[in-house]
Amino acid sequence: MCGIVGYSGKADAAPVLLEGLARLEYRGYDSAGIAVLNCGAFSVVKRKGRVDALAEARSLPGHLGIGHTRWATHGAPCERNAHPHVYRNICIVHNGIVENARALRAECEVRGEAFASETDSEVIAHLVAFSYGQRGDLLAAVHAACQKLRGSWAIAVMCSDLPARIVCARMRSPLIVATGKEECLIASDVPAVAAPGRLVYVQEDGEYAQVDGGHVAFYDAALRPVSKRPVACDPHTDLPQKGGFTHFMAKEMSEVPQALLHSAIGEDDRQYLQLFKVLCQTQYIYIVACGTAYHSGLCAKLAFEEFARIPAEVCFASEFRYRTPIFPKNSLVIAVSQSGETADTLAAASLAKACGIRVLAVVNVPHASLTRLADHCVYTDAGREVAVAATKSFQAQLASLYSLAALAAKARGRQAPSLAGLPALARETLAVSQAVRAWTPYFVGARSVFFVGRGADYCAALEGSLKFKEITYLPSEGYPAGELKHGTLALVDASTPVVVVLTCRRLAEKTLNAVHEVSARGANVFLVTNFSCDTGGNVRAGVLLPRCEEAYSPALSVIPLQALAYYVALACGNDPDKPRNLAKSVTVE
Ligand code: F6R
Repeated sequence: MCGIVGYSGKADAAPVLLEGLARLEYRGYDSAGIAVLNCGAFSVVKRKGRVDALAEARSLPGHLGIGHTRWATHGAPCERNAHPHVYRNICIVHNGIVENARALRAECEVRGEAFASETDSEVIAHLVAFSYGQRGDLLAAVHAACQKLRGSWAIAVMCSDLPARIVCARMRSPLIVATGKEECLIASDVPAVAAPGRLVYVQEDGEYAQVDGGHVAFYDAALRPVSKRPVACDPHTDLPQKGGFTHFMAKEMSEVPQALLHSAIGEDDRQYLQLFKVLCQTQYIYIVACGTAYHSGLCAKLAFEEFARIPAEVCFASEFRYRTPIFPKNSLVIAVSQSGETADTLAAASLAKACGIRVLAVVNVPHASLTRLADHCVYTDAGREVAVAATKSFQAQLASLYSLAALAAKARGRQAPSLAGLPALARETLAVSQAVRAWTPYFVGARSVFFVGRGADYCAALEGSLKFKEITYLPSEGYPAGELKHGTLALVDASTPVVVVLTCRRLAEKTLNAVHEVSARGANVFLVTNFSCDTGGNVRAGVLLPRCEEAYSPALSVIPLQALAYYVALACGNDPDKPRNLAKSVTVE
């Protein structure tokens, strides 16, 4: 989602800002801009589209600046709505949503102030300018403006009177400050600014930061100074490379075996004993997550139930956060998130905490907000995922969650199957999955596509369908194979490709009924399976995966589905790495 970068120091700000924005490109955005202060005047360059389009801004003179990549929420993606927004002597960038923007805008308009954009964010520039006019202090003005906002924000503010100062505020949207030699950088995300020799500080909700050249000061919600310690983080954040692949998505799919290997929790892991104790006490599990992480939660629920006999419920975090859930005694909430910054997942975890329930986070990004909120944290070790559509992080979440299920089983004197063979099987699966490229012509231009399965295969079908629609922009649905006959078959005809996932042997006959039902209506059926079965000649093409433990099969069966989405997206002329309307980290509701 939106990204923020800021610089105050001795170097030229513009190249630093452009480099930082380029490092944030993976988050997904539709316009970008930078503003640099020089001799008391802001120079602003904004463009619809990619950060590359800002190249002309590289030579802007000035040692103080802020930059932004915008993912449109209020107002179309266009130059006018791109950030930074300038009002009088104030220039701001904002991530998040100002929920009461209309009312605040009306207040400003009563004062005779004119707006230049349709965004909710611009109102922040007006509020700060108004308060600064009254108080003459930028920190106090930003603080006063924030008292009026409802919603979520990470804000960086410059004032044309102050040649080295940026003031930052944060509420439910991430913001960090990095200090180097006689310079400070701010960003919404560590990779934008981390570098050897720089110290990184994480700003908390309600805190303010004031940056002046190489000096940073932090303040709490009442503007009392707070001291902070830098966090440990990987300083080597060079722009990620595709390593010979055409797209990051292809590279990241190829990294699934390592993601499975590194994300499984073993006895020698530091937190093994602590997690064991937590799971010993756990009698009920809620898994809260969004999108792909929700699907990994669905797979994990089956494993918790089957191996540990712990009842588990999986909830969309966006729904859970507004529920009044009943937490049985000794409940545990597992919040799953690649980014650890998803607003809905954070809110769901906060709700659980407010009810006195322990939260275990399963997160891929170090220092993410969710890790600080949770009582316990398991880092999936997928490595950085650059393509916006999640691939290897799904399997990494599965490896961590299946490990937790196995640990919970052990805590109850039960035994879950070993995960050890999965990485090697994933390598084999990657090789055979190339065959799905030949299926592409049946999918390009389809009016609708179905992905069906039962049990764990249904979970895989859901994730396959999500991947397919988010990067091909073709309508698709993941459906339980047994439910088609209850109405949805009406949508299936000779133009409907149906992908059937069938690894669950004990349900094979039942799933094959669905194959017969859809092929009787002329549909082209594509089978993803790991055993040979009699399909009665009703299958157009299939891919045979290596066998694996039934409960773990989504870790493999999703691989050809990810590949199918990728090849169809390419055939449709889409950029699979940067799908439209999808952000890597969804920091707004
Ligand atoms: C799918 C995708 C999204 C995310 C969802 C949750 O490819 O990228 O559906 O899975 O926005 O994101 P995290 O896992 O960061 O909480």
